[in-house]
Amino acid sequence: MVTYIDATSAPLKNTGVIRLYDADAFDGMRKACQLTARCLDALYPLVKPGVATDVIDRFVFEFGMDHGALPATLNYRGYTKSSCTSINHVVCHGIPNDKPLRDGDVVNIDVTFILDGWHGDSSRMYPVGEVKRAAERLLEVTHECLMRGIAAVRPGARTGAIGEAIQTYAEAERCSVVRDFCGHGVGRLFHDAPNILHYGRANEGPEMKEGMIFTIEPMINLGRPHVKVLADGWTAVTRDRSLSAQYEHTVGVTADGCEIFTLSPGGLDRPGLPA
Ligand code: MF3
Ligand code: CO
Ligand code: CO
Repeated sequence: MVTYIDATSAPLKNTGVIRLYDADAFDGMRKACQLTARCLDALYPLVKPGVATDVIDRFVFEFGMDHGALPATLNYRGYTKSSCTSINHVVCHGIPNDKPLRDGDVVNIDVTFILDGWHGDSSRMYPVGEVKRAAERLLEVTHECLMRGIAAVRPGARTGAIGEAIQTYAEAERCSVVRDFCGHGVGRLFHDAPNILHYGRANEGPEMKEGMIFTIEPMINLGRPHVKVLADGWTAVTRDRSLSAQYEHTVGVTADGCEIFTLSPGGLDRPGLPA
């Protein structure tokens, strides 16, 4: 049994109940998400060969501080960084460190800012220098997966429609969908109900209703879908060490579809644009 509740009257913990948000909440989410999108826009000039992911992480921290926002990952379940930086075969939750990025790498940078209590969660892929055609293609496929998932969002459909759209496209492109991580409800909580699976069938999952807010964040591999988590307890990698990519948006369900809160103000949130 799925239950829905007016978000203004629900306790602030994930009990599996799906919150429905009002116009004020949409406004708060829009602001938090736009700050995250602006930060992701500002990162492009920084992501170059020789730059360590720690430098990127510091930039994210300071960008947040400068704009009255806190990175949600900081001290989240023992995580100590302001971002996740997932390079090449790292699927997600890569921990920024002092190792320099190398020409040909592709890195996902995932940022969540908390602004006025609202969480804006988004990630994009950044090519480092000149990348191989196969990597470029994976970025294009993964971004298209995200946008097809988003296109399936509307009241009355089930969340499984998102997963079906993503899986169908990814597999038609001879790529695979990671099963071990999913999108999530988001708002005043970082990770809330419902889970948004990036695979499945349109008749599965809870019905989407106007006022729901969640992320869609497909992780797509060139090889097999299986992942393992390294000894650091966070870094998830492909078991076959094949290349993995991810894009993430936070969306709110509207009367006739959805609003993408984390769209880039500079129009930079798709692969292959900035130099
Ligand atoms: N931002 C990630 C997401 O999209 C979560 C990162 S949690 C962390 O849900 F602790 F690994 F940072
Ligand atoms: Co997320
Ligand atoms: Co994220």
